Amino acid sequence: MRFDGKTAYITGGGSGIGRATAIAFAAEGASVAIVDIDFEGADGTRKAIEDAGGKCLIIEGSISSSAVVDNSIKDTIKKLGGLDFVFNNAGCEFVAPLLETTDSQWDEVIDTNLKGTFMVARQAAEHMVRTGFGVIINNASDAGLRGIRLNAAYSTSKAGIIHLTKSIALDYGAAGVRCNCICPGCIRTPLCERFNREVGARKGKPGEEVLDAFVKANIPMQRVGLPEEVASVVLFLCSDDARYVSGATIPIDGGLTAGM
Ligand SMILES: NC(=O)c1ccc[n+]([C@@H]2O[C@H](COP(=O)([O-])OP(=O)(O)OC[C@H]3O[C@@H](n4cnc5c(N)ncnc54)[C@H](O)[C@@H]3O)[C@@H](O)[C@H]2O)c1
Repeated sequence: MRFDGKTAYITGGGSGIGRATAIAFAAEGASVAIVDIDFEGADGTRKAIEDAGGKCLIIEGSISSSAVVDNSIKDTIKKLGGLDFVFNNAGCEFVAPLLETTDSQWDEVIDTNLKGTFMVARQAAEHMVRTGFGVIINNASDAGLRGIRLNAAYSTSKAGIIHLTKSIALDYGAAGVRCNCICPGCIRTPLCERFNREVGARKGKPGEEVLDAFVKANIPMQRVGLPEEVASVVLFLCSDDARYVSGATIPIDGGLTAGM
């Protein structure tokens, strides 16, 4: 298997893209640590991994807390024997135009998506630089590549993740650490469903109708993506097949951001 003897640390592994990636890593032989504020979700992922014969450590907590980040990475190294891959995936958003965005909503999104990604990368890179090997994958979004209506804090946080990725790649490439960033488009997860439901509520339409119209008008491949289709790219970027890829920003969006 591709990742026998390796360890992957995944934030937000209790649902959606994070869960699919945790399961995919474990299926390729990696031991997996997941950090999530949702214990039940994380436990569901752990059960799925263990039922398939894999190894999974779960840590309940928020990546916006530096103590949770530091302790969870130390625990991963201690209990799973190392740290080879980090998937900085946990994220949150809310739907509102600028004038309805409060300071606390802004802070929550930036603290989780951008500062959380920064703190995890910093703590992980410290270990990776010491061992001379590591791959960090940051989950940005199509919203990081251009603005999204009703989504200023989220888009801002995701744009920041793209530049954070490049900075890490520049600073630690010589030390054996690669860092890349993915930009998923519309992926069928609870987060995407919630977004469309809330946009729909503002337009007096059901979320599924909003999503269908968006897909038809904007996605060249004419469908939403699946979490497993994001996971497979994350695993490729962590694998030796991508050993010369660093500092890259990879859309996974069926062509959504290719142009007008
Ligand atoms: N689904 C999409 O269409 C889409 C598109 C672009 C980017 N993304 C990004 O992909 C990532 C995963 O999203 P998803 O669609 O799988 O959503 P999801 O809601 O299914 O999963 C997100 C997970 O992150 C966890 N989480 C949230 N805040 C956390 C925190 N502070 N600390 C620890 N865990 C936390 C949640 O509990 C949940 O388990 C997010 O960063 C999101 O912005 C998703």
